[in-house]
Amino acid sequence: MEKHPAPEITLIENNGEVTLSIGGEQAMQAWERDLMWASADLLCQHGQDFYEVGLGLGLSALRIAENPATRSHTVLELFDEVEQLFHDEHPDPPATLSIERGDFFQRVFELPDESIDGMFFDPALDMDVWKDEELWRRTMPEVVRALRPGGVFIPFFSTKPELRWQYTPHFRVIRVERHQYKAYDSTEYTYGTSGDAYIQCFYKE
Ligand SMILES: C[S@@+](CC[C@H](N)C(=O)[O-])C[C@H]1O[C@@H](n2cnc3c(N)ncnc32)[C@H](O)[C@@H]1O
Repeated sequence: MEKHPAPEITLIENNGEVTLSIGGEQAMQAWERDLMWASADLLCQHGQDFYEVGLGLGLSALRIAENPATRSHTVLELFDEVEQLFHDEHPDPPATLSIERGDFFQRVFELPDESIDGMFFDPALDMDVWKDEELWRRTMPEVVRALRPGGVFIPFFSTKPELRWQYTPHFRVIRVERHQYKAYDSTEYTYGTSGDAYIQCFYKE
């Protein structure tokens, strides 16, 4: 596996605000909880075996793993330090939850065919990765392959009402839910700090 040099990873708690900082960037903040839970609850309506990319604070991971419908939930995380922070905060995670280490863009090729009912996709990626058309062209068919018929792919919410080009060509049926969000004043990664957020759910037919 390609080795990722560990950036500095810290959990910052300040005036009730919680931020997971990776390499100096806001990788995740706890105000996202309700959007994570809404995404998780939507995912869990579609089966019992789930997969997630990006542990972060573990908000969505715990919500999925604790859903009564869930038989198994596997979370892939790039960094040891993120998993360690999660275990420090949650020393007794549910038995349905397994955490694996790896880079999604390599590990997706190893997922067995039609093995999962849903994937929640929430890695924090650099802009050059988002723009890499060839990478997405190679990767998304692997996601579709791993989903069972009737399964769903749910990426993290968008604060723009646009379908993401990285995913749309690979699915015919897409459902979008609009939610309200209120970020911290210090949040740097949303367009504005309050408004509408869109959860997109892509169906494998
Ligand atoms: C936004 S956070 C996930 C937040 C999570 N949904 C929650 O509820 O707390 C993104 C996570 O994805 C991880 N990540 C980034 N790139 C990744 C990759 N290529 N493969 C696996 N995990 C990745 C980061 O280390 C980080 O822990």
